[in-house]
Amino acid sequence: MTAPVERRVAEAADLVTVALDELLPRADGPESRLTEAMRYAALGPGKRLRPYFVLETGRMFGLEERPLLRAACALECIHAYSLIHDDLPAMDDDDLRHGRATVHKAYDEATAILAGDALQAAAFEILAHPDSHPDAGVRGEMVMRLASASGARGMCGGQMIDLLGVRDDLGAVARMQRMKTGALIACAFELPLVMAHSGEAERHALMAFAQDLGLAYQIIDDLLDAEGDPDLMGKRAGKDAAMGKANYVTLLGADAARQRLNILVEQTKSHLDPFGSQADFLRASVDFVLQRRN
Ligand code: IPE
Ligand code: IPE
Ligand code: MG
Ligand code: MG
Ligand code: MG
Repeated sequence: MTAPVERRVAEAADLVTVALDELLPRADGPESRLTEAMRYAALGPGKRLRPYFVLETGRMFGLEERPLLRAACALECIHAYSLIHDDLPAMDDDDLRHGRATVHKAYDEATAILAGDALQAAAFEILAHPDSHPDAGVRGEMVMRLASASGARGMCGGQMIDLLGVRDDLGAVARMQRMKTGALIACAFELPLVMAHSGEAERHALMAFAQDLGLAYQIIDDLLDAEGDPDLMGKRAGKDAAMGKANYVTLLGADAARQRLNILVEQTKSHLDPFGSQADFLRASVDFVLQRRN
């Protein structure tokens, strides 16, 4: 029987895929190569975990579904762009994602670069549209949060550090992980917080939760890279060690990384205490994320 969280994640994934299909551009002219590549990346079989957290958090605050879906789609566009570029030969040089050819393999490198660029632009176009929130001030704040999570102080900055390599310094690794992965995951909570005009105490608790969740999420990704089943993951395994990447697993070994992950997971959940039973689904989502095999 499907567990409730699994069902909710699957339902969120379907909603977001349908919404993305509506929101992403189509074209008739020669630029259709670009719009097809964008769609190939964004409508493919991703887990849609960031959108799930946008929807789940927004529901906790009693927000309407349609604007939440737009915020979820905007964030997923940034995530899809980050993966297209992450897979490029100049970065991780991967040929397989979601069990299919990566965008630069299915199309070509120039198309992959442009598809990433255009998905990033699409994200902000979706978010800035009046349908995302009636209050222009709130929309501006959402745009700012997504931009800062994506840019030099967030995902892109973390990717830079990842490529440069962090040597034998777990503090530096944690900072890199919080930037490259944590920032976009935290944004999944920030967007509904902004939309709901939430108070400082709620914001503080949820941001602490999101920060730890983001770090845990990347440690799981790194464990899967070392020990996971490539067929289940739909992407190459063993590449972090082969490429000399520094992360908790390559620096500490899988067992010690798992121990740290277990401590981190308890800490992550404890940040939800102020929300009581309202946050039960978020609590259960942490275990769901922890058990992921892909
Ligand atoms: C992959 O993210 C890269 C990381 C930041 C860990 P996901 O594991 O969430 O990838 P999708 O969304 O399922 O493709
Ligand atoms: C990617 O991290 C993080 C991004 C910001 C895209 P990884 O390079 O470990 O992600 P995978 O393993 O290729 O999915
Ligand atoms: Mg990478
Ligand atoms: Mg990669
Ligand atoms: Mg990885």
